Parts: sequence; structure tokens; C-alpha cells
Amino acid sequence: MLNSYKRNRMLSIGEKFLNSFENYKDEIKSELEYINYTRCHNFFILLIAASCILIYTDILGKGNGLWDKTPAYRLLFYSHIVILATMSGLLILSWFTKINFFKNKLFFYRFISLFFAVFWTFMGAGTSVNDQLIHGQITVYVFTSCAVAIILYIKPFISFIIYFLSYLIFIIGITKVQGNYNILRGNYINGTLIVVVAWLLSVLLYDLKVKDFIKKKTIERQRNELQSTNRELSKANSQLELSLRALDESQNMIFTLAMALESKDPYTHGHSERVAEYSLELARYLGLPEKLQENLWRAAILHDIGKIGIPDAILNKTGSLSNEEWPIMKSHPENGENICSKLNFAREILPVIRYHHERYDGNGYPDGLIGDNIPYLARIISISDTVDAITSKRSYRLPRTFQTAIDELIKGAGTQFDPVLVNAFVELFKSGKLVPKKESTTLDKLRIT
Ligand SMILES: [Fe+2]
Repeated sequence: MLNSYKRNRMLSIGEKFLNSFENYKDEIKSELEYINYTRCHNFFILLIAASCILIYTDILGKGNGLWDKTPAYRLLFYSHIVILATMSGLLILSWFTKINFFKNKLFFYRFISLFFAVFWTFMGAGTSVNDQLIHGQITVYVFTSCAVAIILYIKPFISFIIYFLSYLIFIIGITKVQGNYNILRGNYINGTLIVVVAWLLSVLLYDLKVKDFIKKKTIERQRNELQSTNRELSKANSQLELSLRALDESQNMIFTLAMALESKDPYTHGHSERVAEYSLELARYLGLPEKLQENLWRAAILHDIGKIGIPDAILNKTGSLSNEEWPIMKSHPENGENICSKLNFAREILPVIRYHHERYDGNGYPDGLIGDNIPYLARIISISDTVDAITSKRSYRLPRTFQTAIDELIKGAGTQFDPVLVNAFVELFKSGKLVPKKESTTLDKLRIT
């Protein structure tokens, strides 16, 4: 079970790596070719300088008679000339690549690095063959094989071919020129080990580089995605802010409209604001949550907005309303609900507006709801509405005292009003925390969110 889990997990990691490799295949190729080219370019100058020094020592050796005593030194001199000429040629070619002389730069990047790898492994093998005629060692082959593995990132298959061909040159060459069997056997073993180690090193470094590149690219992609998400979020946030501002403006417009409606009649001026204040004070006393307090405030300001459709002759009539006029006046809660149903922010308070004239005993309007069937906030507004109506001046009478309003509430508890809420209102009044509102307040003084 555990083995199966491990196997699946390893397969999953392998698949992820292959998928990532496929996604970035072209980018990895371009980057590795560019790195190889840059490294080769840097080494050209170093190798030109080194070959000049070697040629100089070769010439000194010639003067000392080495070339006559050991002819292999002459070959060594020629090989150094070849190195100098090849490195100089590649350096010039790389300059042409730098100044954009070639259209397909990638091809030359690849050509230069591959040529460099082939040249040095083959040259190392050839030099070590020649060295068999001098001191019998294979140091140069060891050095060039490892140097190519470290300097260049080559695909494992291609590096295998290069190392294999150089190994053939090395084996065939030393077999032909090395006469001492013991030295030959030692070089066979060491050369084989070295070429295998160099190839494995090349594969390992290539693999690490590719993984590192994928990791870097994955992080970069995730960072870009994150930045893009952030940008979208911030755009959405700005739009939300604009919408909220527009919503605020539309709310304020409606609230202003509701209060402007009352200003037509000096006797009802500031009524909805005072109803809102009484309602909020009772709500705070009852410990209602913030959200309910907000809705209560909105509903109190808008509770009589439906009067906008009632003719002034009925609205401002000083005497009793006729049988024809009463139904028109009683339609204002439903009118208010219809007006506010178009406003998103007022959706939750529609029942409060509709039912603010319901009575606890079921004799109210428009639907004759009884007791707790009347929305809680509508029952609060019903109390505040009555208190303000009694304590405000009317065209046909002077304002009455707050105590009169309290007496009316107590009289109507259980019939017109919710008795529990009346009780709370009376307690609030007796505590001295409820201040009668004599004058109309402004919108700014009220708590708007
Ligand atoms: Fe009303």
C-alpha cells in the first residue's frame, strides 16, 4: 500500500516535471544556448593567451633541441598553433554574432558552443595520445573532458556522442602509440573512468540547471499571476467604491426627498427625522444589533414617503377626512413600499414601511396584521410616530406634552401598540435618557452608514 503510494507520488512528481519541461522547452533551450555561448566567448580570450604562452615555451624547447630528441614536441607545437587559430577564429565569429551580423543568432550560439565542446574533447584526446610519446600520461584528456562538462550545458544524448567519439580517438590513439603494456592498461582504465565521470557530471549539471530554470520560471509565473490577480482585485475594489459612492448618493437623494416632502407642511416638518431619533434611542435601549438599527433608521426616514402621491388637499386638511379621502390617505404605506421596492438598499425595510400603521389588535391597515405578525421594526416606528404626532404642533391644535404622549402609549398598549415595546419606551422616558425632540435636526446629525 505504502509502496503503491510512493510509486504514484513519484510518478506524479515526474509527470509534473515533464509537463513543466514541455511548457518551457523553447525558453530553456534559448537560455542554455546563450549561457553556453557567453561562457565560450569568455574562455576564447583566456585560451588564446594560454596557447600563446605554450607556443612560446614550445619555441624555447625547440631551441634546446627537444624537437630533435623527441619528435612529439613538434606535434605539440602544431596542436598549440591549431588551438590558437581555432580560438581566434571562434572569437572573431562570436564578435560577428555580437554585432548582429548573423540573422539567426541562436544557430551560431549553438554552433559555437558545440564546436567548442567537440574541439576540446577531441583535442584533449589527441594531445594525450601525443603525450604517450613524451611522458605517457593522460592529464590533458582528463582536464579537457571535465572542463567541457563544467563549462557547458549540453543535452545528455549529445554529450554522450561527443564523449564517446573522443573516447574512441583516445583508445585507438594510445593503443597505436603506447608500446608499454602496463602504461597502456593503466591509461585504458583511467581514461574509461574519466570519460564516464565527465559524462555523468555533464548530465548532472545539465539536469540541475534545467530544474533550477523550471523552478525560477514557475515562481516567476506565479508572481505574475499574483500581480495580475492583485490588479484585477484593485480594479474591482475601485469599481466597488464607485458603486458604493453612487449608492450613498442615491440613498441621500431619497432621504432628502423624503424630508423635502415634509417641508411642504410646516406642521410635519422634521417629523421623519424625529421619528428616526426616537426609534433609534429605543433600539439602543433594547440593545438591537447595529444592522437592525441601520434598517430602523432608514425605515423611519422613509416610512411616510408614500405620502408623495397623496394630494395636498387631503394631506394638509385641517378637518376630518371624508369617506372618500380616508382610503386615499390609508394608501400611503403601500405607495411607500412600491416606491422603495425599486431601491436595492431599501429591500429589507419594505415590510417596515408597509406595516407601520398596523395595530397590535389587528385593526390597523393595510393588511390588518395582529401582534407579533407585525414586523418588529414597524412596531417600534408605530410608537415613535405616535409620540411625535402628539408632541408636535398641528394647524388645529398646540403641541401636547411628552407625558401626554406617554399616557396615550400606555392607554394603547396591547391594542394599538406592542405592550412590551411600550413598557420599554416608558422605562426609557423615566430614566431621563429620552430627550423630547423640539426642533428638526439635520441629516448630518443622524447616524448614517
Ligand atoms: Fe404614516
